[in-house]
Amino acid sequence: MRQKIGDEIVKNVPQHVAIIMDGNGRWAKKRGLPRIEGHRAGAGRVRDVVEKCLELGIKYLSIYAFSKENWKRPKNEVSGIMKLSEVFFRKEFKKLVKKGVYFVHLGDRNGLPGFLIKILDNIKKNNAEERKMYLNIAFNYSGRNEIVKAFKSLSELVQKGEIVPSDITETDIDRFLYTAGMPDPDLLIRTGGEMRVSNFLLWQIAYSELWITEVLWPDFSGQLFQNAIEDYMKRERRFGNV
Ligand code: IPE
Ligand code: IPE
Ligand code: MG
Repeated sequence: MRQKIGDEIVKNVPQHVAIIMDGNGRWAKKRGLPRIEGHRAGAGRVRDVVEKCLELGIKYLSIYAFSKENWKRPKNEVSGIMKLSEVFFRKEFKKLVKKGVYFVHLGDRNGLPGFLIKILDNIKKNNAEERKMYLNIAFNYSGRNEIVKAFKSLSELVQKGEIVPSDITETDIDRFLYTAGMPDPDLLIRTGGEMRVSNFLLWQIAYSELWITEVLWPDFSGQLFQNAIEDYMKRERRFGNV
């Protein structure tokens, strides 16, 4: 696809970008604030990135908001994140839907508080009709758990005699993931500087390009996102070929 970025006409805008939004706690600590203030500031950065995706024609954005491992955090931080998520949906959902943003939840509904399950149901009912882009929100998400879930669904098909084990392909596994029907991320961005993937989209990122910045998530901006996209567009992807 040819796209205009800045003054240049360039090609190869990624179809799907995934972001590990990390560094909220450190951002707050640097300012002598409680960690939850970092999460509050972080939630406010999502909108700019979504707007940038609409502007650049990026069709899929997957953001990592809360992992299954994050339940290990202190109770007050976890409940603070749950409440902030509710605030985020109340503030942003309608506005973004009007712009053609289709919301998708990646992750496990089980274990989420009732008020968030209600929000997820409401999203299903009132989601965007025109899908200019997909916003995948990974919440209570674990990449390995997603793969286990796909294994279970496939095993059931085997048990019912609907599929023979020797016929199972990668495409069969794909269709039981939360991202069924979507292209894999072309680019994985991580803020906060850690050099790891922290159980995010493990199956889907097999050939994603990585872009890691020291910038903490609450300091991230639409411009920095654009820089990452421009860097990505200069990369040569070989997929094992020469
Ligand atoms: C990422 O920021 C947000 C979540 C994991 C919910 P952190 O809270 O992990 O921030 P740091 O890594 O401690 O700075
Ligand atoms: C990854 O960040 C999860 C999210 C951004 C939601 P973490 O802060 O939980 O990752 P680790 O613990 O440093 O690997
Ligand atoms: Mg972190």
